[in-house]
Amino acid sequence: MTTKTLLEHRETPAWRALAAYHAHFGETHLRTLFGDDPQRFERFSVGAAGLTLDYSKNRIDEHTMALLFELARERGVETARDKMFAGASINNTEGRAALHVALRSPVGTHIEIDGNDVMPTVLAMRERVGEFVEAVRSGRRTGYTGECFTDVVNIGIGGSDLGPAMACEALAAYGHARLNMHFVSNVDGDQLAAVLNRVDPARTLFVIASKTFTTIETMTNAASARTWFLASGASESDIARHFVAVSTDVAKVSDFGIDEANTFAFWDWVGGRYSMWSAVGLSIALWVGRDHFEAMLEGAHEMDRHFAESPIEVNMPVILAMLGIWYRNFFGTASVCIAPYAQALSRMPAYLQQLEMESNGKSVSRDGVPVSVATCPVVWGEPGTNGQHAFFQLLHQGTELIPVDFILPLKSAHDLPGHHRLLIANCIAQSKALMVGKTAEEVRAELVAAGMSGAALEALVPHRVFPGNRPSSTIVLPALTPRTLGALIALYEHKVFVQGVVWGINSFDQWGVELGKRLASRIGAELAGGPPCGGDASTRGLIALARAAGE
Ligand code: F6P
Repeated sequence: MTTKTLLEHRETPAWRALAAYHAHFGETHLRTLFGDDPQRFERFSVGAAGLTLDYSKNRIDEHTMALLFELARERGVETARDKMFAGASINNTEGRAALHVALRSPVGTHIEIDGNDVMPTVLAMRERVGEFVEAVRSGRRTGYTGECFTDVVNIGIGGSDLGPAMACEALAAYGHARLNMHFVSNVDGDQLAAVLNRVDPARTLFVIASKTFTTIETMTNAASARTWFLASGASESDIARHFVAVSTDVAKVSDFGIDEANTFAFWDWVGGRYSMWSAVGLSIALWVGRDHFEAMLEGAHEMDRHFAESPIEVNMPVILAMLGIWYRNFFGTASVCIAPYAQALSRMPAYLQQLEMESNGKSVSRDGVPVSVATCPVVWGEPGTNGQHAFFQLLHQGTELIPVDFILPLKSAHDLPGHHRLLIANCIAQSKALMVGKTAEEVRAELVAAGMSGAALEALVPHRVFPGNRPSSTIVLPALTPRTLGALIALYEHKVFVQGVVWGINSFDQWGVELGKRLASRIGAELAGGPPCGGDASTRGLIALARAAGE
């Protein structure tokens, strides 16, 4: 067993200075900080790519931020960022670049991997996606009976599902009137069956999205969809009109029976959870159209430029990342809550779970030695205002300190009077309530005003006190549009990257998903009558129960 550990985190000057400052400043109440500084909002908010980040309701002062920026510099964030944009092989365990920024770069950009400019192939694929999308949306490309497509079923999982599913829901206001979008990811046939029961095969387009084209869930769902399609009366030759694929492995796609003309390629330097900007975004483009899809790329590119070019003191992804480091590593917080005040962003927490937890859920450094500090917290959340009637109780009065990211579009896509103002009011109210809390004196005054007194009043006081001093950031969007959505996602991608650099881990591999996959295949073989896979009593017992149930 290795005894080597990565000691440099806690030993660096900036880390030590932050630890010392936390001991001195950490418990200072946000009420005090706001009371002392009427300019706190101006001082601690930053704009980029049309977004505003208000980070004034965090437990920081200027000195904290200066130390956090020093830590970012000390850990080499700027150099690492430049290497990523330059196409260096930063995914060291897989020997690959992580160049999702190229996917949203405009015509005229040159980005090289090993001396080869990737942009001509990126732009050519963007063009092919655009042409295909226009053909389907206009009705020029039809199903085998000559009818226009009315339903698109995206079959994929993880990065081949969450980005497109999240974006299609977020941009529903831009969706094509004739199209219905469906997303099937789970190998649980309930999900596919429910979709197949609703759609007409002659009017359904299947998009099979898988970077590797080996993922068992996607392959199983795609095979069942094909069988269903053929059973409906369509012939083998009709498959070409109804099944398209998105993958890095064109040969495997062809083995599955989808020819190259219907395959949209991307490249191994695009991580699955960073792939919605590639042809994996085909379903998004089908739904919102080529121009809106490209506007989403432009918004992300604008955030890329901001991240690449702004000094770290005013760099939104760096600021968001370093606040996360402050809480995770100095306050010891174990989770972060994502609270989009936009029903259209209801899949955003799930999307960010993969982005953050699959990227930074690591305990070994890039060099293969144990990381000496805590890395990625648990990411969770739900849209407001629903969350207020579920878990916000714990955020306000629970024993855990949980920083919250509020995401707030200022304009709605609907025109129902009154709703959006209420939504905005609730979002601002929650961040304020978390910040200020309510003291025992304030509670007493309220109860007295309500006519209470004596022991009955005193018995209620502790239950109605809110400690406050619960931090949050608010990301404000002028409205939820393709452009602002692109910028928002790119903001989080770069935040994750910066945190990975600070922790010294590779944010672009995901070895932790392999073991379960391998065991599932062995257990699946045993369930199908194969040899016992051996092992522990629990696994044997559960397999026996499943077999007894006929599986
Ligand atoms: O869950 C592991 C994972 O490899 C993710 O990283 C990826 O997004 C997902 O599976 C799907 O992979 P693929 O696109 O190759 O089907």
